Amino acid sequence: MLKAITRKSTKIRKMKGLILSGGHGTRLRPITYSQQKQLIPIANKPILFYCIEDLINAGIKKIGIIVGPNKEQVMDTVRSINWDADIEFIYQEAPAGLAHAVKISKNFLGEDKFIMYLGDNILKGGITNFVKDFVNTEVEASLLLTRVDNPEQYGVALVDEQKKIIIKLLEKPKNPPSNLSIVGIYGLTPVIFRAIDNIKPSWRGELEITDALHWLIEENYRVRYDLVNGWWKDTGTPETILDANRLILDSIKIENKGTTENSELNGKVEVGEKTLIKESIINGPVIIGKECIISKSYIGPYTSIGDNCQLINTKVEDSVIMERTKIINTGKIVKSLIGKEVNIEKNDQSSDIKKFVIGDNSELKL
Ligand code: G1P
Repeated sequence: MLKAITRKSTKIRKMKGLILSGGHGTRLRPITYSQQKQLIPIANKPILFYCIEDLINAGIKKIGIIVGPNKEQVMDTVRSINWDADIEFIYQEAPAGLAHAVKISKNFLGEDKFIMYLGDNILKGGITNFVKDFVNTEVEASLLLTRVDNPEQYGVALVDEQKKIIIKLLEKPKNPPSNLSIVGIYGLTPVIFRAIDNIKPSWRGELEITDALHWLIEENYRVRYDLVNGWWKDTGTPETILDANRLILDSIKIENKGTTENSELNGKVEVGEKTLIKESIINGPVIIGKECIISKSYIGPYTSIGDNCQLINTKVEDSVIMERTKIINTGKIVKSLIGKEVNIEKNDQSSDIKKFVIGDNSELKL
């Protein structure tokens, strides 16, 4: 028994992880003009870190991260943590598709099985079972799938439920043959390089991994699938960032390292070091970073507030507020994604004159 366990984990330890952290994140502008989308915080932690943790928790110790725009930012952020894995970075000059990212990682990936993880995806259940099943089954590829209401926005799979294999794959089809969408986590073997050499760029000019996988199916290779356990989010838009934030906040642990004066903390509220909460009401689940000042304010459920923020005489609910932002004397702010070092302040309570300095592609609902 013991031997079997050792053998399994050795097989996983030989595997590699490939995380994609490039792309322009156009649907998340203006935030992504200055921040790589995979670094946007969910419950005060970059999305990318959840992917790295999932790979490490599944036993993978060699991880390559594909970087593109803002590569220094991604590398510095990842390097700020002492991970229990060897991490290297692979530069992709242009966002030429997921299959292109695999192709340029050939030297890093070598002859080993690997897991490709799209760095803007977030899964509740992790990938441990998926990786175990993949490593112990003789297949050329394995995909995680989940049922969605809008399959036309994803890669879509048609499956043989009895054999647990995929029989057809289509990228964002106009008439989806099923509602099973491809989640951004793929188990792949080196045969994928041959598949990639046999495909052409799609209508959007990208080498699609879906096309490479479809080539494998056509050539009678076995592509199996697992269904997602729990929830999955592709965090490409402000709405999905807020959704993921809600889902993660539901499972935070309560730890209050801050100082509270004349305040009420209800439900699950995590507070970072040197944060002062005074004369305020916080209704969890809420996470507040370190060195913040929350004064005369109400913070409602599903709010994440980054480090060094100041919220004074303000109400915020169901929102993500990034570090070093100040919100003072405003009315209630809900369902908002607010970047770093933003100042929102109402000076004269009686006037309805507004003054803005707002970046391109910002969105205000007043
Ligand atoms: C990519 C894949 C698609 C998959 C999706 C999951 O789409 O091409 O098959 O369903 O990720 O997040 P993209 O994010 O490139 O539009």
